[in-house]
Amino acid sequence: METEILKSTQIQEASDFLADGQLVAFPTETVYGLGADATRPDVVKEVYAAKGRPSDNPLIVHVSGPEMVWDYADIDYKPLAEKLMNAFWPGPLTIIMPIQPGKLSKAVTGGLTTAAFRMPNNQATLNLIKTFGKPIVGPSANTSGKPSPTLAKHVYHDLHGKIAAILDDGPTKLGVESTVIDLSVDVPTILRPGMVTVDDLLKVIDNVNSDHHKVKAGEVPKAPGMKYKHYAPSAQVVIVDDKSDFNQAIEEYLAKGVSLGVMAVDDILKEVPAGIKTFSLGDDVISASRDLFAGLRQLDSDKVEYILAQGFPDADHGEAYSNRLNKSAGNTHYKN
Ligand code: TXA
Ligand code: MG
Repeated sequence: METEILKSTQIQEASDFLADGQLVAFPTETVYGLGADATRPDVVKEVYAAKGRPSDNPLIVHVSGPEMVWDYADIDYKPLAEKLMNAFWPGPLTIIMPIQPGKLSKAVTGGLTTAAFRMPNNQATLNLIKTFGKPIVGPSANTSGKPSPTLAKHVYHDLHGKIAAILDDGPTKLGVESTVIDLSVDVPTILRPGMVTVDDLLKVIDNVNSDHHKVKAGEVPKAPGMKYKHYAPSAQVVIVDDKSDFNQAIEEYLAKGVSLGVMAVDDILKEVPAGIKTFSLGDDVISASRDLFAGLRQLDSDKVEYILAQGFPDADHGEAYSNRLNKSAGNTHYKN
């Protein structure tokens, strides 16, 4: 199959592919997603096959607005969910709720009695869902285990020949996937940190459990996603938490005779000796989040064996960055 690159105005073409039971990658404000008709289990199964994703890992149902959610989700959750939707939709917050029995296939929910809903903040994709008239499932459009795609060319690299089309709307703005919050438990619980932070959520709802996904020092990660390798390039990623350790870390790795890449903000890159592959994370944790996955992919294609990547404090907007970087590094940190 030849994978077509569609312009962000070619909504009808993209919708026709979906109606024909084909897979279409779509842009969002976070990362590119791999879209398929959420109401057709046969097509949803193709999404898992294209990504090589374990079939017990449920998919997000993408909607063009809150009204589409209530065809599927348990209405009892409306008052609480609407607070979040009003505050954060369209935007990078995915909301998990119990569903009305029989309304979504096992292929979407992974056999759970809940499902994840999200209204992305991207006009082309909102137009696509409206034109198509039904929700679309959308995991990140990468090969399972690889960094999520923030450019159409990343999607093409991983999935060309396996999907019908990519709706190209340029680079994604945020670069890390949505915050996932589970409302089906007693205290709303963050399952994955994103750019909607704990503080943002606490302005809208009274109580949030934000410890669930965290790995404490010296502890083996226990989150479900961690049973798979995640966001991982072929190179070994090593996190450098303290800026002032970079020079020493670089010297040590060079002394081992390995090929090295460095991912950091411009201030640090200025000091890196010539001849080492580098990737700029811009100047702060926001630009670093936006470009993290592109950097991992870039240094991987440069074929380095080790990537020294800058760490940021694990708080506020740094939480999503730290979470993804730790997974890509298998929690490996430089120790001087
Ligand atoms: O920003 C995003 O969320 C992107 C864009 C494309 O929208 N999508 C994305 O999808 O990151 P994916 O499939 O890569 O991640 C969805 C996460 C997975 O960790 C999955 O296990 C979790 O959400 N999830 C989905 N449904 C769930 C459910 N019913 N209960 C618990 N976790 C669920
Ligand atoms: Mg993913």
